[in-house]
Amino acid sequence: MLLEVCDIHVHYGKIAALKGVSLQVEQGEIVTLIGANGAGKTTTLKTISGLRPLSRGRVLFEGRDISRMPGHKRVLAGIGQAPEGRGVFPGMTVEENLLMGAYARKGDLSKDLAEVYELFPRLAERKKQPGGTMSGGEQQMLAIGRALMARPKVLLLDEPSMGLAPMLIRQIFEIIKEINRRGTTVLVVEQNAQQALQLADRAYVLETGRVVKSAPAAQLLDDPEVRAAYLGGDLDTGAPTASEG
Ligand SMILES: Nc1ncnc2c1ncn2[C@@H]1O[C@H](COP(=O)(O)OP(=O)(O)O)[C@@H](O)[C@H]1O
Ligand SMILES: [Mg+2]
Repeated sequence: MLLEVCDIHVHYGKIAALKGVSLQVEQGEIVTLIGANGAGKTTTLKTISGLRPLSRGRVLFEGRDISRMPGHKRVLAGIGQAPEGRGVFPGMTVEENLLMGAYARKGDLSKDLAEVYELFPRLAERKKQPGGTMSGGEQQMLAIGRALMARPKVLLLDEPSMGLAPMLIRQIFEIIKEINRRGTTVLVVEQNAQQALQLADRAYVLETGRVVKSAPAAQLLDDPEVRAAYLGGDLDTGAPTASEG
């Protein structure tokens, strides 16, 4: 198992944000964590990347307990994160932002830059432009590209579709799929359940700090409870199906 979260409890002051969350991510998978606003999705990712301390449970990476490891060491170990809200450095150019992602690495980075530019041609066109002047979608691409520069074994993505127009959402999900095809394991958190479930191999549903369901993503797309709570109730798979009407 590449990443294993075992019964983690996380608090903000006295408020319990996570009340015993467990999940697993295997090498090569795309796993999604879906749930409403406030369910604990961001907190789960922050606990995996070391930005929030846990009060109970543990996080294992490649079989090793990293629960107390500082965040920057987790990046070195292979845990990459593109944060919610993106965190692009506004005064730095696109290329400088990308290079920041590789600050801990030595040697020639031109091949890595070329790969990111191949995935995101838009960033290549704008490599000299300040990050802060990029559109929301471009900043999202930049945040993902920067995380890739650290050559993560697992990439954690916090709501990559947030605030993007439908066409850009499709594009971002396509790129995530391509990143995975090229060998990076992905854990993606989303409120956009429909598209996340279409992208992922497996999924977990989080409600008020607890995992309430876990299954192959395709199975959750057909799950009546999941449909009612997260997918607007109706089957929306394109063609009419037997279970419709
Ligand atoms: N900095 C914070 N201080 C206090 N409470 C927080 C903080 N961040 C998140 N929370 C609370 O923790 C819970 C989970 O939040 P979060 O992980 O951000 O959920 P999600 O990403 O699913 O929307 C929510 O009840 C939220 O109000
Ligand atoms: Mg969040």
